[in-house]
Amino acid sequence: MTQTFLVTGAAGFIGSHSVEWLLARNQRVVGVDNLRTGRLENLEVARSSRAFEWVLADACDEAVMRALFEQHRFAGVLHLAALVSVPESFREPALNYRLNLAAADCIARLCLEFKCKRLVFASSAAVYGTYATLPNQESAIPQPQSPYAAAKLAAEVMLLGYAASYALEAVCLRYFNVYGPRQDPSSPYSGVLSIFTDRFQGGLPAIVYGDGEQTRDFISVRDVARANGEALIQTHAMADCYNVCTGCGISLNQVLTVYRGLFPDAPPDEYTTARIGDIRHSRGNPEKLRNILGFSAQIPFKQGLHELVLGERAANSEIRA
Ligand SMILES: NC(=O)c1ccc[n+]([C@@H]2O[C@H](COP(=O)([O-])OP(=O)(O)OC[C@H]3O[C@@H](n4cnc5c(N)ncnc54)[C@H](O)[C@@H]3O)[C@@H](O)[C@H]2O)c1
Repeated sequence: MTQTFLVTGAAGFIGSHSVEWLLARNQRVVGVDNLRTGRLENLEVARSSRAFEWVLADACDEAVMRALFEQHRFAGVLHLAALVSVPESFREPALNYRLNLAAADCIARLCLEFKCKRLVFASSAAVYGTYATLPNQESAIPQPQSPYAAAKLAAEVMLLGYAASYALEAVCLRYFNVYGPRQDPSSPYSGVLSIFTDRFQGGLPAIVYGDGEQTRDFISVRDVARANGEALIQTHAMADCYNVCTGCGISLNQVLTVYRGLFPDAPPDEYTTARIGDIRHSRGNPEKLRNILGFSAQIPFKQGLHELVLGERAANSEIRA
């Protein structure tokens, strides 16, 4: 059945892939973004589809958003729009509050007003904090250690409070380290893989903080887009928090071995002192989402990295060859 979904943060990294997932399943999508960190080029494929409507707007602008809800009567909302930089959330706590908490409240209240039952919210593994037991389990007591993580957690609690009070199915997805094409490498705090790719493509050495044995649960953006889409479309009730992860930890040294295959002539990697506050190991338990949604990550790390480096189409033929 074709329905209409709202995606906020549509021109972003995860947003643009999620929009394409929905369009490929014959759904209609209204994509909202204020282009704060997103780029219109990310929506090139989506904008060629008649099932997609592009809206340049701020998700916190209640009047504009209300008009969209009124016009489209959305079947579900994927709320991705956010201030995404942890260091920026330290520098700009008021903006962090507005973009990461007040925006979620605005969208949730509009969902209630217009009887849009399903709200999928982009949360983060950052809510677990540095000292959580591995693998991170949704039942663990969260220990946010930045204004960013605190706002994500506060939004989760608020949305689940609405879910318990009204007919709102709030699905909070805690993404781990998402990587893939379209991630912006220009910020020094962007995903480490987009930074490595950018450096290797520029003929520069990778810079590793520490001994490279730190591990991350890297998940391909295409898997995340599928988790988002399934969470929107599934009809059974699922209001709760869920990890979106692979369950596997990959060390930066293992990552660099895969890069060596792609850039055999790259200069040797450079190791420097570890950054204060960097998490040593991060890994999630994927079982809860698997049980409720039947979701498990499908893109092997090597394939995902090839897609990031070579672009989606080139990587598919490369992997098949
Ligand atoms: N990339 C990751 O590894 C990761 C991990 C955990 C959580 N997340 C969350 O996933 C979501 C998407 O992140 P991303 O990595 O795609 O980042 P991104 O910066 O590419 O996407 C965020 C998008 O939201 C837009 N935006 C910001 N504020 C807005 C507003 N008020 N109104 C309208 N649009 C607005 C930006 O312009 C951008 O296009 C965010 O909520 C982020 O916190 C991402």
